[in-house]
Amino acid sequence: MAYLSSEKVEHHFHDVVIIGAGGAGLRCALQLADAGHRVAVISKVLPTRSHTVAAQGGINAALGNIVSDHWLWHMYDTIKGSDYLGDQDAIEYMCRAAPLLVHELEHQGVPFSRLENGTIYQRPFGGQSREFGEGGQATRTCAAADRTGHAILHTLYQQNLRSGTHIYEEYFALDLITDDDGCQGVMTWDIARGEYHLFQAKAVILATGGAGRVYKITTNAHINTGDGGGLALRAGLPVEDMEFFQFHPTGIADVGPLITEGVRGEGGYLLNSEGERFMQRYAPTAGDLASRDVVSRAIALEVREGRGCGPNKDYVLLKLDHLGEELILSKLPNIHELALRFAGVDCTKEPIPVQPTMHYTMGGVPTNRFGEVVCPKADDKEAVMPGLYAIGEGACASVHGANRLGGNSLLEIVVFGRACGNQVHKRLRNQRYHPAISPDCWQPGVARVQRWLDSAGNKEGIKVSDLRAAMQSVMQEHFSVYRTEEVMSEGVKLLDELAAQLDTARIEDGNSIFNTELIEALELEHLMGLARVTAAGALARRESRGAHARDDYPKRDDKKWLQHTLASIKNGKVKLDYKPVRLQPMTVESFPPKERVY
Ligand code: FUM
Repeated sequence: MAYLSSEKVEHHFHDVVIIGAGGAGLRCALQLADAGHRVAVISKVLPTRSHTVAAQGGINAALGNIVSDHWLWHMYDTIKGSDYLGDQDAIEYMCRAAPLLVHELEHQGVPFSRLENGTIYQRPFGGQSREFGEGGQATRTCAAADRTGHAILHTLYQQNLRSGTHIYEEYFALDLITDDDGCQGVMTWDIARGEYHLFQAKAVILATGGAGRVYKITTNAHINTGDGGGLALRAGLPVEDMEFFQFHPTGIADVGPLITEGVRGEGGYLLNSEGERFMQRYAPTAGDLASRDVVSRAIALEVREGRGCGPNKDYVLLKLDHLGEELILSKLPNIHELALRFAGVDCTKEPIPVQPTMHYTMGGVPTNRFGEVVCPKADDKEAVMPGLYAIGEGACASVHGANRLGGNSLLEIVVFGRACGNQVHKRLRNQRYHPAISPDCWQPGVARVQRWLDSAGNKEGIKVSDLRAAMQSVMQEHFSVYRTEEVMSEGVKLLDELAAQLDTARIEDGNSIFNTELIEALELEHLMGLARVTAAGALARRESRGAHARDDYPKRDDKKWLQHTLASIKNGKVKLDYKPVRLQPMTVESFPPKERVY
């Protein structure tokens, strides 16, 4: 059903609107559409172009197909990996649910690689152990060669086509429709036709993915612009723990594309310019399969101490030719192709040049383990925003805390896609009618687009592409693997100056039909807000934890900093608040913080 609510705005009604068509959004949509609800998925790209498609190495679940395993060991590894910033109730929920959800994917049609006995192939990944670190390496990552995300995304898309989900492709979300009673819909822009569409819904779910494009060099696609976090900030809501961006140890040097941790899981290893397997020095037990923050820091130190490779001595080498052509082409075919295309290297013969590269956004829109968006009040730090939910990389549940384990990201999207679907289903049972919305709620969204289209004739003002490049350089240089007060303070100042230029920035193309420059401008508004809260949160956090490593505060400080950062933007200024980490799991005993060694 659709009608015009103003001369310019087409108006739609759905039970649920999900913004984002990656794995989290599609898993949740499937749950709700199969339950008979009228579900809309709004995506700025064709669903199968969502960034889940790029996930390579696999999805964690304690199936024990190769060596015995237990979800409690997976839970322990995840908490340790998070540097104890992860919320233990959500982590328990995720690790317990993992085997069920992976088997469900298998039955939905995901073409997992197979062992001889027909069960799902699993490979070792970083930070995995058995018996709470005492029983050696676990083999927990279920893989479809090195294209696991591709397999999962396509399967979920096909299942949604079967289930009758309404998919609005190439629509950009401009504004959440909110008031004191919660969230009632979303205002959008139809990119292809240049038209406005207002979606009214009983539940709105943000499933918009990560914000990797705040950095200059990243494994992330151009579409990863943190739109969910950007929309939340625009609506006056906080985002959580944004200072924790994960640097993947093995992005292809200088250009960024991901070389999966699965390479090291299959037996590949890192070498410095002296031909040394340096990870043995930093992580005597886990070596190359220590967790990502540990390996990225080790590479950064090797480079800093002059043992980097190449003309600028700024990368290390990932050696895998000893695994043999047959293994590489059957288990790592995508890596073979990426190395050829982006590094000009045939990895069956030579090592791949790699360096730590921004990969994953641990922070995001704060939620509880049911996917409900948490909007803390003075007397209730876990208060929820009625009708608004968030899942996947754009959310912060927080199952990854300060450092995510490889293979837990594909897991998170299906586990919390389902958990959120269950919670929304409950809400819909009591919410028979669409909540009322203010008659002019569409206006800010229209003004947002018109401001950019009108800028097209301007001669003054910085171009959006230049402003974005400047912001990405500041993030790359001032908020990288190692951080200090001085460098970050300068970064905060520079970002404030760049943000001030947004009001007068301009685009050159004033057309409304398929205007990609307009979309980049809207995305930059999201990225800039997220860069500012990342910077402020990082500067304020005077400790080292997980991916946030400070030369000037090299120790973790549990007395002061065992808490989540909540950052919002009020009257143009970043405001920081904090809430405690949930150390109490659902049913088992807590894993108290202790020293983290690999
Ligand atoms: O290395 C990888 O394959 C990445 C996996 C992940 O980020 O979970």
